[in-house]
Amino acid sequence: MGCYLLSPVLFRIIWYGFCMKILAIETSCDETSVAIMEVNGSRHQPTLRVCEHLVASQVEMHAKFGGVVPNLAKREHQRLLVPLTLRALKKAGMHKSSKFKVQSLTLTLKNKNLLQTILEREPELLSQFPKRILPLDIPDIDVIAVTHGPGLAPALWVGVNFAKALALVWKRPVIPMNHMKGHLYAAFVPETIHYSAPFQFPRLRFAVIALLVSGGHTELVLMKKFGDYKIIGETLDDAAGEAFDKVARMMKLGYPGGPAIATEAAKFKNVKIERLKIRLPRPMISSKDYNFSFSGLKTAVLYALRDLPKGTRMTSVIPAMAKEFQDAVVDVLVAKTIRAAKEYGVKTIAVGGGVSANHLLRERLSQEVKKQLPNAKLFLPHVSLTGDNALMIAIAAALDGKKKAPNDIGAEANLRLGN
Ligand code: KG4
Ligand code: ZN
Repeated sequence: MGCYLLSPVLFRIIWYGFCMKILAIETSCDETSVAIMEVNGSRHQPTLRVCEHLVASQVEMHAKFGGVVPNLAKREHQRLLVPLTLRALKKAGMHKSSKFKVQSLTLTLKNKNLLQTILEREPELLSQFPKRILPLDIPDIDVIAVTHGPGLAPALWVGVNFAKALALVWKRPVIPMNHMKGHLYAAFVPETIHYSAPFQFPRLRFAVIALLVSGGHTELVLMKKFGDYKIIGETLDDAAGEAFDKVARMMKLGYPGGPAIATEAAKFKNVKIERLKIRLPRPMISSKDYNFSFSGLKTAVLYALRDLPKGTRMTSVIPAMAKEFQDAVVDVLVAKTIRAAKEYGVKTIAVGGGVSANHLLRERLSQEVKKQLPNAKLFLPHVSLTGDNALMIAIAAALDGKKKAPNDIGAEANLRLGN
């Protein structure tokens, strides 16, 4: 009660410092995701409670095409965002529909036109929004966080425009969030997270090196403090996940390639084969910089498959090739991460992105950090948070988000960390 006696500005500052409810939206690629999270306590070591977290994967749909089709992704995000948001609000106990449809009545003609303009490129959203979002009472949400890049532009725009429309009708600020920051902060969610129970974000010991490995990116990021990110190395061509996907396609293992290759590699020890002399390169493993290159490795797989002796049984070759390919990628990722961590004397190593679901990568990094960097702590994300999701966007927004005027927010397909 005492808070109400404070000036509105001071009240807002204190209030934001201590308690805030974030609705986060992620649509950068082929997952449509919405999260509602409550943040309490200090900015950089808050207590977080997940009120609801929903991820709708489009993977099966894109698998038929062997990869993500941007316009299909856009269509699915439009179809799914409103129902997911309503479901999340309901589960969070924030779904109240006013009998008198207060919002529709109070939305001025000017704002109705504005809503139309915001959603004009998202026709499916425009048709659902007035019927299903406008009749709701304004929920107990303080801020809307949304991924605005990097990612597929048509997919990103759906989330961004939806966030802007919510901001308009709920009169709430928007935090545009870098997708890669989401992957970075997801690493710090405890493995044992139980969604309904609050958990404390760990106190980070700087400097941090983050290995971010996804379908579109492979980056080593040096973080000296909150808000200070520097890419010290990145792929010069294909991302690690992209290489997994392309090599899987060559071996007709389907999409997404990462889990398919990991599954084949795991069969290797069970397959009775003569030692196939498959040896792939470890590109740039000894280069002095922290950059990566995976496109040559992909070509090496292509040639190795082409040059197999006639009559070789593919059922034997595929597990062996998958294992060697996975070993090669993991060798390079681990070697460069450990070297960077040593050179920069970091206290914390974090890993994030779809490829961080890979068991071999997790195992090898754990072993090497223990052996070579006993004073550093390795944070691996909960496997359920390695892929794209809105919870990571909510966490990144809580830890390092800056509100922006909705008019100044747009999708930035090539957004980079550190800009
Ligand atoms: O982070 P993410 O879900 O989406 C992007 O932001 O790109 O990453 C997707 C990538 C895909 O390339 C997929 O093949 C890869 O992560 N991936 C894996 C594994 N699970 C997913 N790569 C290796 N091993 C896995 N177990
Ligand atoms: Zn991602």
